[in-house]
Amino acid sequence: REFGRFGPLIGAIDEGTSNVKFLVFAANTSEVLTYHQIILKRFSPREGWVEQDAKEILNAVLECIEVTVDNLRKLDINPEDVVGIGITNQRETTIIWNSVTGEPLYSAIVWLDVRTSKIVDDLLKTKGTQCVNAVVQCSGLPLSTYFSSVKLKWLLQNVTAVKEAVQLGECLAGTVDSWLIWNLTGGSHGGIHATDVTNASRTQLMSLKSLQWDEGLLRFFDIPLQILPKIKSSAEIYGYISKGSLLGVPIAGCIGDQQAALVGQGCMKFGQVKCTFGTGCFLLYNTGDSIVHSDSGLLTTVAYKLGPTAPPVYALEGSVAIAGDTLQWLKNGLEIINDVNDTEGQAAAVDDDDEGSICFVPAFNGLYSPYWRKDARGVMCGLSSRTRREHVVRAALEAVCQQTRAVAAAMEASCAPLRRLLADGGMSQNTVLMQMQADLLGIPVIRPLMMESTALGAAIVAGRALRVWPLTTPSPPADTFIPALAAEEREIRRVRWEAALARSMGWATD
Ligand code: G3P
Repeated sequence: REFGRFGPLIGAIDEGTSNVKFLVFAANTSEVLTYHQIILKRFSPREGWVEQDAKEILNAVLECIEVTVDNLRKLDINPEDVVGIGITNQRETTIIWNSVTGEPLYSAIVWLDVRTSKIVDDLLKTKGTQCVNAVVQCSGLPLSTYFSSVKLKWLLQNVTAVKEAVQLGECLAGTVDSWLIWNLTGGSHGGIHATDVTNASRTQLMSLKSLQWDEGLLRFFDIPLQILPKIKSSAEIYGYISKGSLLGVPIAGCIGDQQAALVGQGCMKFGQVKCTFGTGCFLLYNTGDSIVHSDSGLLTTVAYKLGPTAPPVYALEGSVAIAGDTLQWLKNGLEIINDVNDTEGQAAAVDDDDEGSICFVPAFNGLYSPYWRKDARGVMCGLSSRTRREHVVRAALEAVCQQTRAVAAAMEASCAPLRRLLADGGMSQNTVLMQMQADLLGIPVIRPLMMESTALGAAIVAGRALRVWPLTTPSPPADTFIPALAAEEREIRRVRWEAALARSMGWATD
């Protein structure tokens, strides 16, 4: 069919932990034509619990689509040129709902939530090392509060409405992608209950080899198969949008947000690495068709599968729980900054060897890769009467960079040394952070000017499924940050950080 001046368009729903966006890309050029964004709320009814409202997430997606389509009309672009959409989402966050009423049976339990700490301890105590090792081998993931497996177990054990719905055969569960796909394709009137391999690989219930729900894992966590979605590839038609301005448009792609950024950054070859600095910070190393297990605290995960018959591609991942969230805490918790955008200037106003400089480990809910210590909590070390707000801000940035450095070192131990790091995500706009990252890693950090790599990845998988996206795209223009710190200084900073890190461990008792 005939298209307008931008050719075929692909929409991308980017449902992150902190906000929802809907962006429209021109498939021929990867250019973002317009988008709309809504900030999401998070609730913490108890210490360590992190929840979101599943309905609020859905409504934000619907509103973003409508406003963006309106923007297209204002730009004199025909919304009918949108030939498909891709979905990318925060992973592991778990939603459970009633298939008849369409109502969520509980709040979305966010990936950061640590209420399942006791479940993890009990499993470790009662199941035996051999059994636990088998879970790690099959799923690629350690036992941790992070993954959907234990969140689902908690919901099945603790929420009466969930138990009743399971008995009645009316219970559906999934990660945020499944909730959105089911609702967008008709909900209780024939909605499709599906997920993709990348999201499924973060539930800890899927076998990395078979790419199906694994009987042994389901038994280990005691999860009924019938509540889980069907697993599909990242690039195929899932169903069609059942209402609103994009009625009838196919959902043609689905991929977890960190894997989407890997695709969006063009890391499609063995050994290519990207790091997304968002709410958390996630480094993914493309290991091609090999399932590489790490002894150094990294996760093994599916990177993408570009079609029902395409082979899966795998990745090693280092997940840092708190990155951009540290700056949000400085703003909303500690109230020492007014705007996270000010942190670039504040961090640049002081030096690392100032008398007031400190080390800050923001282990608010424990530490993920490569440490996996759920008993860790935040510490600030080296405070003196010279310490000012600017030192705290700079230390918050250094905390992200040091954890990323530790993950990169673990990747080096498991695979090969990193030669450069491709950066993206909201926090990568901070130039001081990018330079500090290059300094502490000792390799160049490259940041594309178009920073919506996650949404781009979702658009690419959908565009590939519909055969409207070019197979190769030229490398986008980028800023390069070259390391400027002497190796001895880098080492001094690492040792200082690790001394603070050691003090953060062992604070939480359950
Ligand atoms: O595993 C959690 C991750 O998918 C969240 O990503 O971008 O919301 O920090 P983000």
